[in-house]
Amino acid sequence: MTAILAIAGSARTKSYNRMLLQAAIEVAPQGATVESASIKDIPLYNGDLEETSGVPDVVQALKERIAGAAGVLLVTPEYNNSIPGVFKNAIDWTTRPSSDMARVWGGKPVGMIGATPGPWGTALAQAAWVPVLRTLGTLPFFGARLQVPNAAGVFDEHGALSDAKVRSQLTKYMVAFVQFVTRQSG
Ligand code: FNR
Repeated sequence: MTAILAIAGSARTKSYNRMLLQAAIEVAPQGATVESASIKDIPLYNGDLEETSGVPDVVQALKERIAGAAGVLLVTPEYNNSIPGVFKNAIDWTTRPSSDMARVWGGKPVGMIGATPGPWGTALAQAAWVPVLRTLGTLPFFGARLQVPNAAGVFDEHGALSDAKVRSQLTKYMVAFVQFVTRQSG
């Protein structure tokens, strides 16, 4: 079984990216499990806090889930043509202390997808993640892309992915990503 940890980069209850993550769980191919992780309770990074109290428990727990996963899927919103600060903050915490970064992220297959009510589908946020993933020493997945624009029309009132075309694109993305992750861990 290939274990994927999917992290949604929004704390919002009705987040489109959390809806997209939920749909990714539903369409994951056989042989893969996709679990979700939330960034909601992660505090703002503060070097003083780290120095006095170390890495918060909620961050340590996320780090261990990342370390234990065969692959990580970032489900990213886009803010001001880049990575939302809240999401970057969460990932920054998981790189502390830096001496532990290679254990958590080194060689980790990482994919990314994203949804926005806007017209460009988080293309610029996804591009902005690339140098971060390089710095973390990950193995980014570039074999497929999924950028979901006009998200308000893609999910129904219950948050289910109702657009057949996007569902098909997501299914294809998940098949390709899981194959990539499985190849690395095999
Ligand atoms: C946005 N939004 C946005 N959308 C986009 O496609 N490109 C952008 O540059 C921005 N910029 C931006 C800045 C800020 C500060 C906010 C709060 C929002 C809109 C954004 O995509 C929208 O709020 C999504 O609903 C956020 O994702 P979740 O919370 O639905 O997952």
